[in-house]
Amino acid sequence: MWEITSADLREQAYQNSLDNPEAFWANIAEQFTWQKPWNKVLSYSFSPYHLTWFEGAKLNMTENCLDRHLPKHKDKVAIIFEPNNPKEKTKKITYEKLLQEVCTWANMLVQEGVKKGDRVCIYMPMIPEAVYAMLACARIGAIHSVIFGGFAAQSIQDRLLDATCTFVITADGAYRGDKFIPLKENIDQALQAKTSVQKVIVCQHSHSEVFMQKDRDFYAEPLLEKYRTDFIPASSMDAEDALFILYTSGSTGKPKGVVHSTAGYMVYTAYSFKNVFQYQDGDVYFCTADIGWITGHSYNVYAPLLLGATLVLFEGTPTYPNPSRWWDIVEKHKVNIFYTAPTAIRSLMAFGDEPLKGKDLSSLKVLGCVGEPLNQEAWHWYFEKIGASKCPIVDTWWQTETGGILISAMAHISPCIPTYATKPLPGVQMVLVDEHGEVLHTNPASGYLCLAFPVPSLLRTTYNDHARCEQSYFKTYPNLYFTGDGAQRDEAGNYRITGRVDDVLNVSGHRIGTAELEDAINLHPKVLESAVVGFAHPIKGEGIYAFVISHEDIKTLGAEIHALVQKQIGAIAKPDKIQVVTGLPRTRSGKIMRRILRKLAQGETEHLGDTSTLVDASVIDAIKEGLLM
Ligand code: WTA
Repeated sequence: MWEITSADLREQAYQNSLDNPEAFWANIAEQFTWQKPWNKVLSYSFSPYHLTWFEGAKLNMTENCLDRHLPKHKDKVAIIFEPNNPKEKTKKITYEKLLQEVCTWANMLVQEGVKKGDRVCIYMPMIPEAVYAMLACARIGAIHSVIFGGFAAQSIQDRLLDATCTFVITADGAYRGDKFIPLKENIDQALQAKTSVQKVIVCQHSHSEVFMQKDRDFYAEPLLEKYRTDFIPASSMDAEDALFILYTSGSTGKPKGVVHSTAGYMVYTAYSFKNVFQYQDGDVYFCTADIGWITGHSYNVYAPLLLGATLVLFEGTPTYPNPSRWWDIVEKHKVNIFYTAPTAIRSLMAFGDEPLKGKDLSSLKVLGCVGEPLNQEAWHWYFEKIGASKCPIVDTWWQTETGGILISAMAHISPCIPTYATKPLPGVQMVLVDEHGEVLHTNPASGYLCLAFPVPSLLRTTYNDHARCEQSYFKTYPNLYFTGDGAQRDEAGNYRITGRVDDVLNVSGHRIGTAELEDAINLHPKVLESAVVGFAHPIKGEGIYAFVISHEDIKTLGAEIHALVQKQIGAIAKPDKIQVVTGLPRTRSGKIMRRILRKLAQGETEHLGDTSTLVDASVIDAIKEGLLM
């Protein structure tokens, strides 16, 4: 059952997926182009963790995204590109042209030495060339590792080293709003360490002056001219070959490289896109996520192209040159499906209704959001002001690791409930467990959110470190994949996600590990130690509160810590509040009691819970005195 077109069919599909998961997924997989069929639909174990879907099959992702649409959709627009500056021209790229570009890029990569299985770093603005580069890798079987353009040199370097990338594809620079991002300069800094990078391909986009190292750095345009071609055949990939690596933060250490497969990822992203958004042939779809995040991969590139959709690729920001920008784009391209993040909705809501005046948003049929809980107030604004009270809002819950949407309503098919992601999609077996790992069978319930059975797009490993993958996701509760989220389930079985229960912050929908951030802050020579926690923030969802032990005056220290974090991780991780403290609350074994710090950061100074295990309760009084509210 590929198309779920009614509430009854959703129920029925859910039951089928429980009764016979393999038949359920095989049936969906039949929609695609396979070079060779599979021998076995699924084999897996959660302990030790291993997972294969459609074993024995051969395919290529780009044949499914591009070639197979040509007979019917050669002249259909695949990508509508909206540049950062509205005065610059919109570009429309047809499916035929997209295939040619991807083949040219693929040809260039091969001729310049990229081989199947090599890791290629893509550090690009949101321009069509970023999509060409991703798909070119997929066409030749190279594994892309896209790094968000907002990450700084140190983060790039860590990722290049971890994945041993041999190639980098970047641009000279780019503007986001009126802010210039020196992409090539950041790459140059990242390459100051010894890495395995042999070549850097540079797209000329901002046309700014950049350093070009002889025999390492090459402008893309002359190479693309040299290797221009209409077609190269797609490589034959195994179902389980890695399609890409995407780094994400966890509760410990450096970000981990989440590895996604080819076949399972393809089947699941297309299936979920089709059914959650109820995509119909001819719909114009606009997802605002950057390609540097999983939403950008799954629902800005792969899934819409798998469906032969027309997607809007927007380079800029929602407030440049003014906060009407998105609505202008919706009106101009008659967008039907719009998918964004709660933090963006809240920040636009803060501008009031003025930016919406005179905008014709009547083309919209479906709204979606992802990344963090969508609060009541923002839900109503989105529903009433953007969707004119006629568009369902699909609040989609998922993660980098799950590859695709796992819990969501289906637009116009199943009910949307404010602040609820609602129900797991057919094929998805979610459970809640209590603190002992006991599965909670009755409703309502509240507990830790886990997946009890694999979906085709579940991560296969964390790059080069399978033990870390097992430790992070499969060891907390036996025979379950643990999401790291807490959730409630109502009487009717609808899920409401309450947020991370581990030491991961969700700041404006971006995952930031507190350990990673503390490591960055601790690099400051005058910082003895630090502890970072989140606090409720009206726009960002979660803000960052850093407690640092130092003898230094906060006046100079604050700015220096900001600069340091910006250099080590990127501007997205800069703390909103930094408090210099003389000590941190610790247990006798030396563990910092974050539970207490979280309460204090929230302004809760009375009900701190059990403090009897603290070594020195007086540090708390000192912290209370200096709290930044
Ligand atoms: C959170 C983004 C509430 C959650 C696709 C999850 C959400 C983390 C929702 C993954 C939602 C995502 N409601 N919370 N609809 N969607 N989250 O890996 O905490 O960047 O674990 O993937 O975002 O973030 P990631």
